[in-house]
Amino acid sequence: MSLSVKHLLGIKELNVTDIEQIFQTADKFKQVLQRQIKKVPTLRDITVANIFFENSTRTRLSFELAEKRLGADVVNFSASGSSVSKGETLIDTVNNILAMKVDMVVMRHSASGAPWFLANHIDASIINAGDGINEHPTQALLDAYSMREKIGNLKGKHITILGDIMHSRVALSNIYCLNKLGAKVTVAGPPTLIPKHIESLGVRVEYNIKKALEWCDVANVLRIQLERQHKPLFSTLREYALYYGVNKQMLDSLKKDIVIMHPGPINRGVEINSDVADSKQSIILDQVENGVAIRMAVIYLLSGKREME
Ligand code: CP
Repeated sequence: MSLSVKHLLGIKELNVTDIEQIFQTADKFKQVLQRQIKKVPTLRDITVANIFFENSTRTRLSFELAEKRLGADVVNFSASGSSVSKGETLIDTVNNILAMKVDMVVMRHSASGAPWFLANHIDASIINAGDGINEHPTQALLDAYSMREKIGNLKGKHITILGDIMHSRVALSNIYCLNKLGAKVTVAGPPTLIPKHIESLGVRVEYNIKKALEWCDVANVLRIQLERQHKPLFSTLREYALYYGVNKQMLDSLKKDIVIMHPGPINRGVEINSDVADSKQSIILDQVENGVAIRMAVIYLLSGKREME
């Protein structure tokens, strides 16, 4: 088993067989994670560097845990407190890390395209842990895997992605992944947060949140990414919550039970209320749990190893 790509830069470059292979491998690693000893020695001769130029909680911890569960040696690098602040370039930083005999690099960067740039300059396999407003491939894989676990084969299923679509790498990677798996996708939110011509990616646009929720089997709710908004795109967070926030009253008014997802971090009371985030319909923590198995699968498949344990 191996992927058609050397790096995991984006979902755009994967084919359906790659995605299915990642899911099948994640199924096996999920079983390992249920055992008392949640670890295999598969990658004991591999060293992985997690280099994060942007903040992260889930992705970073999930990758580190996945690498350790596979028996790899792990080094962690954060831009804050590093020599990046002294003017070192991305390539110099990474080459210095690679000189310490690192085999694989997991990178998050605020610049869209940074992992592709790096892939053209170094030999190690690169996994994109989120680049600017472009892609977050492992998030989309764990999202689709979690949806499939909950509602079965995604072919023909209706998925709504709701919120700040404009600034979301999770939205773009989800759209690529869900399209490849045959799901039907609607993006919903205020007009100012939905890119013009997004229909060209094969999605529907719906500005009415109730209609968007009524249409779907699963709603993936996204956070407002204020750190990427350089001019006001809506009046206030309170107004956003009033018109686009998902609350229990809204869910109860639908004619069916839909599955609620969120990639995190959650802004409770803004895009989602606690009575929804913590409800039985929410699979938010299942997403986090599945993230470790998905990342183990990606790292394992990119490593070129043939034995899982
Ligand atoms: N979902 C996600 O990328 O979360 P973090 O920013 O905490 O990694």
